[in-house]
Amino acid sequence: MDGYAVHAEGLEKRYGEKRALDGFDLAVREGTVHGLLGPNGAGKTTAVRILSTLIRLDGGRAEVAGLDVARRPREVRARIGLTGQYAAVDEVLTGRQNLEMFGRLFHLGGRRARQRAAELLERFDLTAAADKGVSGYSGGMRRRLDLAASMILAPAVLFLDEPTTGLDPRSRGEVWESVRALVAGGTTVLLTTQYLEEADKLASRITVIDQGRAIADDTPDGLKDRVGGDRIEVVAADRADLPRVAKAIARVSDGEPESDDTELRVHAPVTDRVAALTDVARTLQDEGVKVEDIGLRRPSLDDVFLRLTGHRAKQDEETAA
Ligand SMILES: Nc1ncnc2c1ncn2[C@@H]1O[C@H](COP(=O)(O)OP(=O)(O)OP(=O)(O)O)[C@@H](O)[C@H]1O
Ligand SMILES: [Mg+2]
Repeated sequence: MDGYAVHAEGLEKRYGEKRALDGFDLAVREGTVHGLLGPNGAGKTTAVRILSTLIRLDGGRAEVAGLDVARRPREVRARIGLTGQYAAVDEVLTGRQNLEMFGRLFHLGGRRARQRAAELLERFDLTAAADKGVSGYSGGMRRRLDLAASMILAPAVLFLDEPTTGLDPRSRGEVWESVRALVAGGTTVLLTTQYLEEADKLASRITVIDQGRAIADDTPDGLKDRVGGDRIEVVAADRADLPRVAKAIARVSDGEPESDDTELRVHAPVTDRVAALTDVARTLQDEGVKVEDIGLRRPSLDDVFLRLTGHRAKQDEETAA
């Protein structure tokens, strides 16, 4: 399909009884970052592994860079890069040695491999740490080195499987910067994530995956609109106060407040965040309602799932962290 770097239709993958992919569809426009958002066990890694030709599909069809992954895997491999969910760099080597090793694995030749390693170290802001052992790198530095390694051949399409899971906010920001730089250079990126915020920051389009199927495909704004944007959230100290809390929230919200009776939590979407927070805090204080916690929060993956499916994201027992 023209203009698409990845196009998959009806992908199936079974592991025994388990349908890891169950009719999964995906279309990623060239030159964009596309987010694949889903909870543990949704099928994100399985999709990435099929598209990067690491495993075979059981049904459906997929093209990457215009090439059928099942029929022309070698040619697909020549056009893609992959950063797995778990870092693949060698602990014992330095950053530079790692990149030079990858270069030689890709038959670049010693001189070209050294040159490419130096370029990538510079690009990913690793020059100062280039000759230190990777065992001393922070999580963010490691992921950037991983990204650099998957860029040795400047791929047309890069698959990033949860590139920031487990990173602190600062390292996460650094990885995001690197991804943006790659796309500015013409690479198409398919990025899997469990964080709505991450997909929102990086991707121009998001596919939500649940139990092996795409359950939504939208722009970040479109998705957030469906979910209802930012939310105000109050945790009451007393169960008896829940109706009063709900009423105070209803006054400032454009949606129906939702109550969680076990956690004594009431929340609802708001547009004017600060005005809503001030108003609710004042009302509850005036009424003498004791509050455990009050605040604003951005919609999470959980909110997306609740909206789209009517249930919370099901954590897969085998893969849940
Ligand atoms: N090699 C395998 N053998 C058996 N079952 C598998 C295998 N790989 C994946 N699965 C199952 O397929 C489903 C999808 O797994 P997958 O790893 O694709 O999910 P994921 O979205 O990447 O999850 P996570 O966020 O935890 O990485 C899960 O139920 C998982 O247990
Ligand atoms: Mg995974």
